[in-house]
Amino acid sequence: MRISSSTILLGAALGVSAHPSRHAAHQAAHKRDFVVANKPTTTIIEYVTAAAVAAESSTTAAAVAATSAASSDDDDDDDSSEYVEFCGGSTSKRATLAEIAYKGNTGTDDDYGCNMMVVSSSIADQYEYTATFKNDVAKSQACVCFNKIGPDGGINGFFSGNEAISFTLPASGTKVVAFEANSQGGCVCTVGDTVATTDIGQFAGTWLEFDMANSSNDDWSGADASCLVSSIYPKLEAIIPPLKVCGSGTCSTILSGGDGTNAYLKGMEAADGVGLNLAAGKVRLTITVGEFSA
Ligand SMILES: *[C@@H]1O[C@H](CO)[C@@H](O)[C@H](O)[C@H]1NC(C)=O
Repeated sequence: MRISSSTILLGAALGVSAHPSRHAAHQAAHKRDFVVANKPTTTIIEYVTAAAVAAESSTTAAAVAATSAASSDDDDDDDSSEYVEFCGGSTSKRATLAEIAYKGNTGTDDDYGCNMMVVSSSIADQYEYTATFKNDVAKSQACVCFNKIGPDGGINGFFSGNEAISFTLPASGTKVVAFEANSQGGCVCTVGDTVATTDIGQFAGTWLEFDMANSSNDDWSGADASCLVSSIYPKLEAIIPPLKVCGSGTCSTILSGGDGTNAYLKGMEAADGVGLNLAAGKVRLTITVGEFSA
């Protein structure tokens, strides 16, 4: 992706160090900048280090990993055949421009995550930025979409429990998610009832990463497929599910097992600009999600 995948990954590192009981020494040793502007490379490398630390300490981490009750919204809105406003049309406080530059649009003060929602396919055209998920498997999949920045303002939106929305993708079915401008984050689906996570509770599987109409970047959008998180954990790496995202004639593809093209594959933490880079305007992403097969 043009910009945000690196910051998302950076966040994974910050998420790891966000738990004070864990590796306080490492936190000090790997002090990080929060805002990655144009040069994500250095912070990415720090992410890898931190992820390795997390993997080493997975016993502790697993013990700490909270039981994250699914408290997120479900797909309330997707039956409506009339236009549904984001955040219920609420006028409650939105982020300032400065906040948006840092954390993007994560909804309103009292409704975290209302910057994205599942919408009925009959009205999907009325939204500027959409992602249509297609299930390539004849079994239902559990899906979440998350913001880069979590409900508490930390770079931890991609930890289980911090998701903005969750929904079920029916067997061989389709769902559309609409996003507001300045939404940055990702989505993951897993065959079955729960989305796969790492030992420390990050969403695993293969991610769709998105950056919709980033106002700090002339309203460009970006998207990519990434298996960087799973590729760090041997058990998860062995079962990386396929995901393909296409838009405006370009695709970013991860194949079953973690190979792929124009996507973030194992070891590509330092790469930038991978995936779809889309000039300002409507975004129509089509995401095909499958199941790992050897
Ligand atoms: C938007 O793009 C800018 C410039 O490339 C980048 O620094 C920033 O992190 C992006 N915003 C978010 C919230 O990801």
